[in-house]
Parts: sequence; structure tokens; C-alpha cells
Amino acid sequence: MSRSLAARERLFVALDVASVDRARVLVTELGDTVSCYKVGLELLFGGGLEFAQGLKAAGKTVFLDMKLLDIANTVEKAAANIASLGLDYLTIHGTDTKTVEAAVRGRGASTLKLLAVTVLTSLEQADIEQQGIKGMSPADLVVHRARLAKDAGVDGIVASAQEATMIRAAVGPDVLIVTPGIRLAGGAAGDQVRVMTPGKAIAAGADCLVVGRPITEAADPRAAAAAFVAEIEAALKS
Ligand code: C5P
Repeated sequence: MSRSLAARERLFVALDVASVDRARVLVTELGDTVSCYKVGLELLFGGGLEFAQGLKAAGKTVFLDMKLLDIANTVEKAAANIASLGLDYLTIHGTDTKTVEAAVRGRGASTLKLLAVTVLTSLEQADIEQQGIKGMSPADLVVHRARLAKDAGVDGIVASAQEATMIRAAVGPDVLIVTPGIRLAGGAAGDQVRVMTPGKAIAAGADCLVVGRPITEAADPRAAAAAFVAEIEAALKS
């Protein structure tokens, strides 16, 4: 389903800023270079929901990064309410089938696409062991959760691009693979640990890339976004 997406439609800029005022400045600066935005927890509590709806009304693709995880009744009803907002994507945690199936029921026949977060890109082996998960690498856990989420009816999987090839082999061609933790060669990783460049991520089978700070904190965000789009485009051609 993703094969027809243009390079620009594969870049989701994470608007991880504290205020709608700052987000508005960024979106204006980025202009036509960016067509898809991710609105997450930080901005949501700074007026971000109305802002997200405004982006959608302005013709942008909007990804609400709520990472829902709760009892089934709560997730189902939250997903139903979110579906009524008319946005494009919603994240849920793909840690268990009950959560994912509840979100699938909640979005019902709406056009909202569900993306299951497998293992956060900021986590490594020691972090999952700390959670009590023994004998599995982060990649094993990602693939295990990706299979469960696909069977439960999600549209896409969120994981590190380092796992994209394994996920594709496990879930087949029709599931969207969305990868945060993307950095240009030599870029600062920040708190991310399972990172990859945009070119390598696309080559590994990622469909859409989520990029935050390398664009939002750049001296020239528009030029930074254009560099990401150019690298995605080059990878698609090769
Ligand atoms: O600034 P940076 O490019 O690291 O931002 C990545 C974005 O992707 C953040 O908004 C983060 O919440 C989100 N994300 C992630 N890892 C996941 C799921 C979402 O980094 N597994």
C-alpha cells in the first residue's frame, strides 16, 4: 500500500515542541517541503489537539502519537473518540493483543490508521531485561510484537529501521513500517539508541520515517527537512 508514496510523503516531522506558537513558526518555515506531521505528548498538552486539526484542515497528513496503553474498554473508547477527529494515524502500544484489538474495534469503519509501537527506539537490551523480558533481543521482541499486532488488525508497525528487514519478512508487504530514530550520517543521536540514516532505513524496507530534533532544532529546519527528503528520494531510486 505504501509503494506509491512520494519521498515527501514518507517524512513525518515530529512536532516535539512545547507550544502551539513554536509549532506554528516551524510549520510556516517548513512550508511545502513537509506534508506530514506527528503531534505527540508534549505538544498535545500545549494546545496541540486543535493545532493538529488545523494542520489536517490545511491539507497536511496528521499522525497523533498517543501511544495508548490501558484496559481494553478505555483504549476502545479513546480510539473511537480519536477516530471522530478525522486525523490520519494513531499510535498504540503493541505490547499485547488485548490493547491492539480494542483499538481496532474503537476505530471501527473510520479512515483512522492504527500504528502499533513495538519497542521504543530509545530502549536497548538492558532496558528490556529490566522489564523482566529474558532471552530475547530487542529485535526478537519487535518481530514478536509486530506479528501479534498484524494479526490483531493494525495498519502499520513502529520500530527502529534496524529491525525493518526482519519485520517485513515477518508481516509481509501490506503492513506499513514506520521508523523513528532516524539521523543523517554524523547527526547527534540524543536519547535514541537504535538509530539509522534515512537512506539505509528506506533500503531496509521502512515506508515512512519519523524525524524530530534533527529538523526541529536545526538552524535551518527547511534545509534540514529537504536534506532528509533528498536522501529518501535517492534511496527510492536506487
Ligand atoms: O527527535 P527524534 O527524531 O528522536 O524524535 C523521534 C520521535 O519519534 C519522538 O516524537 C518520539 O516520541 C517518537 N518515537 C520514537 N520511538 C518509538 C516511537 C515513537 O522515538 N518507538
